[in-house]
Amino acid sequence: MCGIVAYLGHRQARPLLLEGLKRLEYRGYDSAGMAVINGGLHVARAVGRVSNLEALVTADPGFTGTLGIAHTRWATHGGVTEANAHPHRDDTNGIALVHNGIIENYSALRTYLTERGHVFTSETDTEVLAMLIGELYDPAHGMDLEKAVQAALREVTGAYAIAVVCEREPDTLVCARKGSPLLVGVGSGEFVVASDASAIVAHTTQAFPLDDYNVCKITREKFTTSTIHNVPVTPRVEQLELDLEQIELGGYSHFMQKEIFEQPRALRTCMRGRLDAAEGTVVLGGLRQFAPQLVRSRRVILAAQGTALHSAMIGEYLLEDLAKVPAECEYASEFRYRNPIIEEGTVVVAVSQSGETADTLAALTEAKERGALALGVINVVGSSIPRITDAGVYLRAGPEIGVASTKAFTAQVAVLTMVSLFMARRRFMSAEQCGSLIRELEQVPDKIERVLELNDSIRAITEKYVERENWLFLGRGYNYPTALEGALKLKEISYIHAEGMPAAEMKHGPIALIDDGMPAVFIATRGSQYEKVMSNISEVRSRGGHVIAVATEGDQEIHHHAQDVFYIPDVPECLSPMVAVVPLQLMAYHAAVLRGHDVDKPRNLAKSVTVE
Ligand code: AGP
Ligand code: GLU
Repeated sequence: MCGIVAYLGHRQARPLLLEGLKRLEYRGYDSAGMAVINGGLHVARAVGRVSNLEALVTADPGFTGTLGIAHTRWATHGGVTEANAHPHRDDTNGIALVHNGIIENYSALRTYLTERGHVFTSETDTEVLAMLIGELYDPAHGMDLEKAVQAALREVTGAYAIAVVCEREPDTLVCARKGSPLLVGVGSGEFVVASDASAIVAHTTQAFPLDDYNVCKITREKFTTSTIHNVPVTPRVEQLELDLEQIELGGYSHFMQKEIFEQPRALRTCMRGRLDAAEGTVVLGGLRQFAPQLVRSRRVILAAQGTALHSAMIGEYLLEDLAKVPAECEYASEFRYRNPIIEEGTVVVAVSQSGETADTLAALTEAKERGALALGVINVVGSSIPRITDAGVYLRAGPEIGVASTKAFTAQVAVLTMVSLFMARRRFMSAEQCGSLIRELEQVPDKIERVLELNDSIRAITEKYVERENWLFLGRGYNYPTALEGALKLKEISYIHAEGMPAAEMKHGPIALIDDGMPAVFIATRGSQYEKVMSNISEVRSRGGHVIAVATEGDQEIHHHAQDVFYIPDVPECLSPMVAVVPLQLMAYHAAVLRGHDVDKPRNLAKSVTVE
């Protein structure tokens, strides 16, 4: 998803804006642009990487000045062209604007503005907002930039995070937000506005998030915040919990590689202080106040997208298996529009790494409005979803920069395991049973470390199949969602087509795909359905498919059936996805590297999908 960076202070804006855009590159984008106020308005835009923009602005002496805005675009309306890249301008007052989100009623507004004589130069919805602000701007009659932005935002529907400047107000930066994230960093005599903390933390650790319908006017001395109806708002400036070391590569080749190898540490941090094996209890402070409601809950609905959906699917199995509470997992995008039935005693859990996924945010909002208890399992502290939940549990996995989610997946499964045990102990599970599972859970990071030692052999096996264009991923029970996750990882960074499914489902159609040498990855770890998985493996082998199996150390059977085997340490079935997924993550990573793709910024993808 796009990135916004804006600066007003005593230093030159250009280098700070470029550095900020580079820190936001991981969010995914297709073009970039910048505007600086220096006597007049200077704008430059470029398709492709931020480095293309850097070449443009570095060569141009007009790009000096201490006020500027910058943007990386993830196109929604209009192709990937220089004309559609941001900043967009009005046609009269030297106003420039960058935007993350979608102006849903842009077409009607464009018609209105065209009839008023405005001429558009792009296909985007964003330019309409810039032109509308220009149309309303009339400082001689009190409609300065802040007031014109407020008035324009009262007319639009949709989602936005915007930063706006005007050459006629060289000491003012206006920003606003609804639905798309925007943080205001408060430095010493300077302000840095950005889509997330990674573009702010190098300059200040004091910041506040804008809330929906907030407009913030920043001058060289101070900031004032109000609603779009000009009602004053007092934001809470907080300490950012991020440091530069966490968002640097630290000797790895890619953030995805770093985050795969960080999983043991991330899980230890995720579980620290939350497990008491001796007492057989799970301590989740964020849920304590709602424990009675959770214990009496009649149904849990988990809503998420992408990788978070896969961890949520495992959460469904865990809640029913351990806490004996009816549970179901849904695509948030489907849940929000299907008029869901939310009866008394329903709990809805939003699972999201970024806490900004538009569909997941909207699904939770819908559930809350229908009376559900709204919980969040989120990684980014202070993001939009936690700000609307009744309660929740943070992953504490640290920032996840790679577009392909890895450590967030295993941390989400760990948190959902702890939530299930938290409920189970207050329902039917004995302290002894819970203590036993806690001791197993505490060993998962060590077991992942042992799997990471297989990295070289996993790379070698991946290399055997990396030219194949179609893969299957198959698992049963807890590891059916793990198979889906393995397929998604491979798809999204190596661009190889991969399909995950329940192993039993293969016979109902997909087996027709099996041809000579087709890779079929099976999660065949020790478990209740092991024999069934072995039968499915035979069905693939008898049709010429090549089986790559994830199996349990000590399995003497599997190598007679699979061409290649990754052995992982033995772990209880309900905890196995956190360990079984690691070879799949590494296979996807190596496939992408072997194919020469940009692992951390895969084509067309965004780290956080803040549009529908
Ligand atoms: C996962 O590798 C993808 N980047 C994507 O599917 C992601 O999981 C999905 O967009 C949900 O993001 P969230 O966890 O931030 O809500
Ligand atoms: N909807 C705007 C466009 O297509 C903004 C997209 C974004 O969030 O980057 O240009």
